[in-house]
Amino acid sequence: MKRTITPVRKVGGTIRVPGDKSIGHRAALFSILAKGLIIVKNFPNGVDCLTSLEAAKRLGVKVRTEVDGLVLTPPVTVSIEPDSIIDCGNSATTARLLAGIIAGSNLETTLTGDKSLRSRPMKRIIDPLTRMGAEFLTEDDHLPMKIRGKKLLPYEYDLPVASAQVKTAVLLAGLASSCSVTVREKTITRDHTEIMLRETGGGVTVRKVKPVRSPDPIDPRKTRLAMPEAFKKEINISPEAQITGGTIDIPGDISTGAFFLAAAAISRRTLTVENLGLNPTRTAFLDHLKIVGCKVDIRDRTVISGEPRGRVTVTGGPLKPRKISGDTTVRLIDEIPIISVMAAFADGTTVIRGAGELRFKESDRLAAVSDNLQRMGVKCGLLEDGLAIEGGKELSGADFQSFGDHRIAMAFSIAALFLVGPSTIDADEVVNVSCPNFYNLLDAISL
Ligand code: S3P
Repeated sequence: MKRTITPVRKVGGTIRVPGDKSIGHRAALFSILAKGLIIVKNFPNGVDCLTSLEAAKRLGVKVRTEVDGLVLTPPVTVSIEPDSIIDCGNSATTARLLAGIIAGSNLETTLTGDKSLRSRPMKRIIDPLTRMGAEFLTEDDHLPMKIRGKKLLPYEYDLPVASAQVKTAVLLAGLASSCSVTVREKTITRDHTEIMLRETGGGVTVRKVKPVRSPDPIDPRKTRLAMPEAFKKEINISPEAQITGGTIDIPGDISTGAFFLAAAAISRRTLTVENLGLNPTRTAFLDHLKIVGCKVDIRDRTVISGEPRGRVTVTGGPLKPRKISGDTTVRLIDEIPIISVMAAFADGTTVIRGAGELRFKESDRLAAVSDNLQRMGVKCGLLEDGLAIEGGKELSGADFQSFGDHRIAMAFSIAALFLVGPSTIDADEVVNVSCPNFYNLLDAISL
């Protein structure tokens, strides 16, 4: 059934959003390898993280719900029945991280998922995990994928694609197999894995490479800043590394908060999100808001379980266009759909490049964004690796398509608030992936 959304033009108030999805997946899946209890506060209630929790249960984790949060008791020995199949639903994070754990354990199982997940690339994890010694059986490097876990060999891997999921899969494989693994990143990706490993265990080292001043090769009288190595970060798991256990308190998901903050930005009003995750690898959206003309005020900053958080208030202003590319695009990867919606209300042309990865998300997000923007009357060029969006016009309500993708559903539900006339969207079930109370929150902020 399609939901009808009528325009509001004004938003405001103070809200909280569900716990961070990336951290939730890790908390659930790390418990499989833990030696002691993991207590999780503010575990996300979206379907995606519940999928990871179900997968953890299949591998022997006991889950108890207490007033304070979830108590995850790891199995003494990780095991699963022979010929088992684990359904990872819509969640690539579940599939890729779990693949790392299975690859490094003495287990055999098949991972599968829904239609969208079965179309998403798995070669990026199959390649390194196979080189470490695990066996994979797939058609075309997609799910369903049978994994034969092994005692793996020590491994050093320079990530060919900027992906926190691939980084984590390789690190978890090393951890499961008690073998040394080093992963190097040319582009820094979200670091919730490194933080959680440090907070709940030991044996992980992180080395950041800083640019150094050296003689300019063209004019030796001058100096210039240069990277001394071909990568920016190196993470090592030692053979003794362990997840001993502990408490993980999860902040609100900034990628979900972004939808509501964008509503404030477009309507030039003020909105606050409390307890919002502020991990620096995830806050590029707040920088974006400032660059395009909004005021961002952060109070009550604290760090709990290694993850920064705070109370974020955004006041919108006339929106400006922007060019986004390179490492900035990577840091904004989950926010590009809502940034594209904001661009439709900005005065000028926004150009987004370096976003080819968006073609491999829950939908082809470049095509999905471009299709929906055109439905509401925006001129949008679909580029090989991005989008060119011409904003600033009076835009009309439309019949939007979610393409079964939660971030597309939420982005165009926000757009619908500020169009002339009502819109429809097939989004009700779809938003459950990361924010089941999305429409209640939308009602709460609509004035
Ligand atoms: C995630 C990493 C990103 C992101 C996804 C969650 C994670 O994907 O887009 O929503 O939790 O590690 P990639 O690793 O494919 O870039």
